[in-house]
Amino acid sequence: MADQSSFDDSEDIFQVGGIFSNRELVRVGHVPELDRVVGRDEEVREVGAALGPAIQGDPPETTIIYGKTGTGKSLVSRCVTREARRRAETNDVDLQHAYVDCSDYQTEAKASREMARQLYDNIVDELDEEVKNDTKIPRVGIGAADYRDITWELLEEKGVDSFVVILDEIDKLSGDALLRSLSRARESGKIDTHIGIICISNKIEYRKRLNERVDSSLQDNELVFDPYDAEQLRAILENRRDAFVEGVLDESVIPRAAALAAREHGDARKAVDTFYEAGRLAEKENSDKVTERHVDKAIRRAEVNRFEKLVSGQTPHVKLLLRSIALLTQSEDGEWFRTAKIYDLYKRLAEKEASDPLSYDRVSRLLKEQSFLGITESEHTGGGKGEGSYLEHRLLREPEIVLSALDEAE
Ligand SMILES: Nc1ncnc2c1ncn2[C@@H]1O[C@H](COP(=O)(O)OP(=O)(O)OP(=O)(O)O)[C@@H](O)[C@H]1O
Ligand SMILES: [Mg+2]
Repeated sequence: MADQSSFDDSEDIFQVGGIFSNRELVRVGHVPELDRVVGRDEEVREVGAALGPAIQGDPPETTIIYGKTGTGKSLVSRCVTREARRRAETNDVDLQHAYVDCSDYQTEAKASREMARQLYDNIVDELDEEVKNDTKIPRVGIGAADYRDITWELLEEKGVDSFVVILDEIDKLSGDALLRSLSRARESGKIDTHIGIICISNKIEYRKRLNERVDSSLQDNELVFDPYDAEQLRAILENRRDAFVEGVLDESVIPRAAALAAREHGDARKAVDTFYEAGRLAEKENSDKVTERHVDKAIRRAEVNRFEKLVSGQTPHVKLLLRSIALLTQSEDGEWFRTAKIYDLYKRLAEKEASDPLSYDRVSRLLKEQSFLGITESEHTGGGKGEGSYLEHRLLREPEIVLSALDEAE
């Protein structure tokens, strides 16, 4: 007789807990409506003012946005552009847009193709059958300039009044031909469409380079987005409270997630992520409440994950070495350890795994290297009378996090 399945009708394998009522609201990548954007009123107004003329069929201004990660740059740009599109529609103005994340499309050809592809997708239903059949956006085989020509043809064909292009993470883009041609397409007589450009970068150092790379016509508006404070992060999370079933969130969850994210550079992405992960953990535990404990656990998991990424590319011996320092830190008094002490434990661990330990010199060099990775730090300490100075090392993370990450990176 065939094996009986252990599932019966009473078990729903697709069951989800009663924690979320609208998960989408707390997923990364979700672009909420403008009314859920908190604490960026000034920035929203400025981007709005730059795009404003386009809504009436006049030329919009270029905007360049800088700011640290998770400060709402992508979000504000996308939300305001979406809103502009709706408003233009009510004015009978045809405003199209493309959002190109240059970290996904780093070459001029790829970024230009993505722009063409998005425009095509957005307007394909309104194109003549003939144009539709004639327009091909091949994946390879044509150059960056050809993709741009396709874009200009589509804009002309459809008679688009304004085209807003968001070039996100523009510092990742390999050249500036796309930016240049966007800023000159109209004056060079290629199109009648007004072009609006929003450039975004989280590298403030990039500012100088961008200034050198593009002409001053592009520097209409420059905005810098500041990190959020705890109050703003709290408001951002409050605004998405309805992602959760009513009553499941403990009162302390939002303040705690906000406070911890504020401490960590005021990054809203981290705050929203923590919020979501805390809910997922509660769901996995079949708990009917999300508590502060879930928030702490979510943050811990995120730290382990980040650390795991860092160590997973290291050689097995580097991992053993890290494990040795973590074990020493966990079990001994004090946190600074001499090279010799770390080497002893490392050697024993290596031998236990039947792998030839590296030489003392090699390990001593590695430890110096590790301090460069930001995982440990080293310090010269003077020995007692007659002893020379020696090097001591200290782990910069919690040993439990290092050990969990090492276990998972195996
Ligand atoms: N003012 C805000 N109101 C509501 N949600 C926000 C706000 N700012 C950011 N968020 C949320 O935080 C996350 C990160 O925001 P965003 O992607 O805009 O950051 P960014 O500044 O573009 O960061 P990066 O430089 O890393 O790309 C998104 O999920 C977004 O929905
Ligand atoms: Mg972004």
